[in-house]
Amino acid sequence: MDRQRRKISILGSTGSIGTQALEVIDKLKDRIEIIALAAGDNVELLNEQIKKFKPKYACCSCPEKIEGAKYSSLEEICSNKENDIILVAVSGKIGLKPTIAAIENGIDIALANKETLVMAGDIVMQKAKEKGVNIIPVDSEHCAIHQCIKDISQVEKLIITASGGPFLNKSPDDMKNATVEQALAHPRWKMGRKITVDSATLMNKGLEIIEAHHLFDMPYDKIEVVVHPQSIVHSAIEYKDGSVVAQLGVPSMHIPIQYAITYPARYEGIKSKSFSFSQIARLDFEQPDYEKFPALKLAYNAGKIGGSATVCLNAANEEAVFAFLKGEIKLYDIYTITQKMLSSHNVIQNPTLDEIFEIDKQVRILTKENIKKVCSL
Ligand SMILES: NC(=O)c1ccc[n+]([C@@H]2O[C@H](COP(=O)([O-])OP(=O)(O)OC[C@H]3O[C@@H](n4cnc5c(N)ncnc54)[C@H](OP(=O)(O)O)[C@@H]3O)[C@@H](O)[C@H]2O)c1
Repeated sequence: MDRQRRKISILGSTGSIGTQALEVIDKLKDRIEIIALAAGDNVELLNEQIKKFKPKYACCSCPEKIEGAKYSSLEEICSNKENDIILVAVSGKIGLKPTIAAIENGIDIALANKETLVMAGDIVMQKAKEKGVNIIPVDSEHCAIHQCIKDISQVEKLIITASGGPFLNKSPDDMKNATVEQALAHPRWKMGRKITVDSATLMNKGLEIIEAHHLFDMPYDKIEVVVHPQSIVHSAIEYKDGSVVAQLGVPSMHIPIQYAITYPARYEGIKSKSFSFSQIARLDFEQPDYEKFPALKLAYNAGKIGGSATVCLNAANEEAVFAFLKGEIKLYDIYTITQKMLSSHNVIQNPTLDEIFEIDKQVRILTKENIKKVCSL
């Protein structure tokens, strides 16, 4: 009998998460059907994906170049109730509006795009609750916590692991003079460029703290970060009685992606070999160095301030990262510019979605002006 297949659309199908999601789905073709694929500029790869996975709809920056599928915008895709789940794997602020559209239409979300919760976590989680929509995290740390938690009311704290990125064992001077190439050379994970730079500054971990706060409704002082260079323990929780439950596995995004899109079922899927404790020589853990990685503290503080502070943090950091990738500023300037933007930001508590988009726009304009000043020094 042809069993009912779960229907999914992927936003950001040509990116790091999107392409790995398609590798997962390729192994689960009898269980998952693709309704739509959405990309940005990489039409060539999108068309190859359409040919292979035959979605009904597709989206990209050049709709006239789409071959073999009908054009549909991101928001139309997310409003299409044929979908059981949407994988939001675009990078940056563009994830927010489509995620809201999907929630309003009662469609579950597999969420990779952390900026959505950093910008509008209160609104997104409240809407999801009202609509009975599941938000299943794709980020390996949050996926780990999702797997560890049975009853959130019995959890004392969340312990989020961080690989430490390419500068973990480098001096602050090495970091100050880092090239784009060095910042993009992540020792454990192959990811898109923006998140890779965030991982080098540990801003990524800061964004993950904010993401965890919203996903698991956990106060910031009960979210701890620990550096774990091997990236085997993906995160852990401590229960009120002192028991610690951790989730382990090889560092591969295939596993959390598959978990999120097939939840609550588990299949063999893309798993290539069994995990072996005896092949792991050692597991190291250490405190993060907040002096060398000030972005982590900055994100913690923005989260604690709440309201529009995290909108400002996200927008300023994103623009500064783009400027670093273009060679306009140094790696440390990302922090100083973001910190400056935050210290001059007038925080609004409980901003509406319209206010969030307006603040995002204004902060980006101011950040770009600041970047120009830094460039002219
Ligand atoms: N990579 C990871 O391992 C990882 C892990 C955890 C969380 N995340 C999060 O997942 C998100 C995606 O990360 P990534 O590393 O996969 O990024 P990425 O490789 O840069 O991919 C971004 C994707 O978004 C697409 N895109 C860009 N603009 C678009 C638009 N206007 N409309 C539709 N699609 C658009 C890109 O399309 P084109 O390439 O065609 O332009 C690409 O498919 C980020 O929020 C990141 O923080 C990633």
